[in-house]
Amino acid sequence: MSETKIKKRRTYAFPENFLWGVATSSHQVEGNNENDWTEWEKIEGHIKDGSISGRACNSYEWYEDDIRLVKELNNTAYRFSLEWSRIEPVEGQFDNEAIEHYRKIIKTCKKNNIEPIVTLNHWTVPLWFRDQRGWLNKDAPVFFRRYTQQVVKKLGHEINYWCTINEPMIYAFNCYLKGKWPPQKKSYFKFKKVLKNLVSAHVFAYNVIHDNYPQAKVSIAKNNQYFEAYVDNWLNRRAVNFLRNFWNHWFLKKIKDKLDYIGLNYYFHNAIFVSWNGYVNMNENKKTTDMGWEIYPAGLYHVLLELKKYRLPVIILENGLADKKDKYRADFIKDHLRNVHKAYKAGVEIHGYCHWSLLDNFEWSDGFGPKFGLYNVDLKTFARTPRPSAQVYAEIARNNGF
Ligand code: FCB
Repeated sequence: MSETKIKKRRTYAFPENFLWGVATSSHQVEGNNENDWTEWEKIEGHIKDGSISGRACNSYEWYEDDIRLVKELNNTAYRFSLEWSRIEPVEGQFDNEAIEHYRKIIKTCKKNNIEPIVTLNHWTVPLWFRDQRGWLNKDAPVFFRRYTQQVVKKLGHEINYWCTINEPMIYAFNCYLKGKWPPQKKSYFKFKKVLKNLVSAHVFAYNVIHDNYPQAKVSIAKNNQYFEAYVDNWLNRRAVNFLRNFWNHWFLKKIKDKLDYIGLNYYFHNAIFVSWNGYVNMNENKKTTDMGWEIYPAGLYHVLLELKKYRLPVIILENGLADKKDKYRADFIKDHLRNVHKAYKAGVEIHGYCHWSLLDNFEWSDGFGPKFGLYNVDLKTFARTPRPSAQVYAEIARNNGF
């Protein structure tokens, strides 16, 4: 291949040792869980397509295959979550078999030179925890600390990258304010209380991990969105500032001294238009995913720049789309990575990018309809088949750029 061709292929060169990864979560891929969601899913009307997580992708048994796929993608990181309800099925009683299972996953990653990024809680909670008012209980952070202590004791020496809690704002919003997800509460007071408890839970977990492993890198996965004013006037600028500060920065500011990096999940852009009649989202929606979510790669640049002030490295822990026909995925990845690169050039220290998701999986209250996977999953045989974009992502990872 000629020099120019090589140069052309690497217009977007990423820093050395950049982590290229994919992300999944326990409840969405493992199958056969018993937690607050599995109970809630059974009730008619809760899941859009009437499905239940059930055996999901059977990743609990197929994890070696999954990690082989991560390898096939030339990826160097795999973000997955531990299922709290498996590790502590009964309050205060820890299941060694479950812990050993996760040890095997971590070991298999390492054998393949894949860095495990381990999430302690990706939303689902054990039934005993749910029955004690879940995250509303003032002792919830203490329960979470006890679980973290056990994980740290048993697996701590194997893990470099931790993510304590996935998307606390989305979780608290959908479960306690909007009433969309279990336990379907609609109360501003409860929403704030849960957020406060999630802050404490993170701080406890951070301290437990660091007391034992000072070198560990601990964060959360923070869903940040790009808010912009649709019209430039005082009211709209104020509204955007308020939303940005609250949604993107309230949680981060509370825990800023307890973060070793910032884990960022990016999906959404909001072109806000506020008038005395109310609030409208004016997104043009030129291109949307199968879920109707606008594809807006430039927003990733903006949210990354917003994080500069924390002076911490950033790892993108989620970014992806539902695209069954794989019509947009390859371009989606490249367009978002162009913006990651732009932010890196603008001085944001970015250490990695994880695509959501490795596999088609159980998309919460949307069920199995949305297809987020680089790999399609046959829900009967569990056979995994790459979509064409998987090859594109594998090439990018192999070349550390494109
Ligand atoms: C994120 C969640 C993840 C997945 C994607 C599509 O908000 O963290 O589990 O559902 O959205």
